[in-house]
Amino acid sequence: MGDFITLQGIVFTYDKSISPALDHITLAFQKGERVAVVGANGSGKSTLIKLINGLLVPQDGKVTVAGYDTSVRSHLQPIRRIVSMVFQNPDNQMVAGTVEEEVAFGLQNYGVPTEEMRRRVQVALEYVGLWSERMRPPDQLSGGQKQRVAIAAALAFSPECLIFDEATSMLDAPGRHSVMKLLDRLKGEGKTIISVTHDMEEAAQADRILLVDHGQIICDEGPAAFFSRDLSHYRLKRPLAAEISAHLRASFPWFPHPIMKVEGLLAEWDTWRQAESDDATE
Ligand SMILES: Nc1ncnc2c1ncn2[C@@H]1O[C@H](COP(=O)(O)OP(=O)(O)OP(=O)(O)O)[C@@H](O)[C@H]1O
Ligand SMILES: [Mg+2]
Repeated sequence: MGDFITLQGIVFTYDKSISPALDHITLAFQKGERVAVVGANGSGKSTLIKLINGLLVPQDGKVTVAGYDTSVRSHLQPIRRIVSMVFQNPDNQMVAGTVEEEVAFGLQNYGVPTEEMRRRVQVALEYVGLWSERMRPPDQLSGGQKQRVAIAAALAFSPECLIFDEATSMLDAPGRHSVMKLLDRLKGEGKTIISVTHDMEEAAQADRILLVDHGQIICDEGPAAFFSRDLSHYRLKRPLAAEISAHLRASFPWFPHPIMKVEGLLAEWDTWRQAESDDATE
């Protein structure tokens, strides 16, 4: 089986007078992967993902999704059924009179039968905890609630690949936690998830992290390798647990590093204390 999504020698320039936003990028994404895209403001992350669903077309190189070339106009419809995108600013995405209609909107355009559509809308709204708000006008919701409507609208599509562009940045901690759990579940169902994020705790949950800097891919590796690096040059901070494990490692060279989650850190700490007390009783 070939690669699911490919970018080959991509060059993308918004304005010829400035340097390219992306410069000779070659990448592939496989089905079922969860990938985090990180990097400083203006590094080229949003440009990269807009190229994947054909919102932007490269001046040089080629992007394919399940074999469809994004530069071929007639391929855009099948590509958008395969790849669904959620942006950061949901205000620009709301078009319908109620939350329920908003989530159903995209499906109507693709001729999904009514019963199937109702079922999908309900499942998607329950996923994001907004089923009780289904009759409200989207513009009366809070920023975080709108964000969840936009996520539900993308989910209702049942796409093979979901792309999030900082789509959890407006959510409160429980809201973000529930979206993270949802992403785990979607990954379990074999979906490909690509999320642009400034949240390193979120990035640490990915299978793979892409670091973008000045239009280049600087790293493409798993979280353990990634958070073992010195990332200060890229204005990135390690997750809290990895930061602490780095400090402990500096004093205790046997201490495992990086540890991604606080739970992992506490488990390591307990093992260590247990070993200490066993030594003391011997
Ligand atoms: N519509 C546009 N017209 C001209 N230049 C643009 C446009 N959109 C982005 N750029 C430029 O392209 C570069 C990459 O922008 P991009 O939006 O991809 O960055 P980003 O990594 O998503 O940043 P952020 O973290 O702030 O969202 C930046 O230098 C930006 O100024
Ligand atoms: Mg961006």
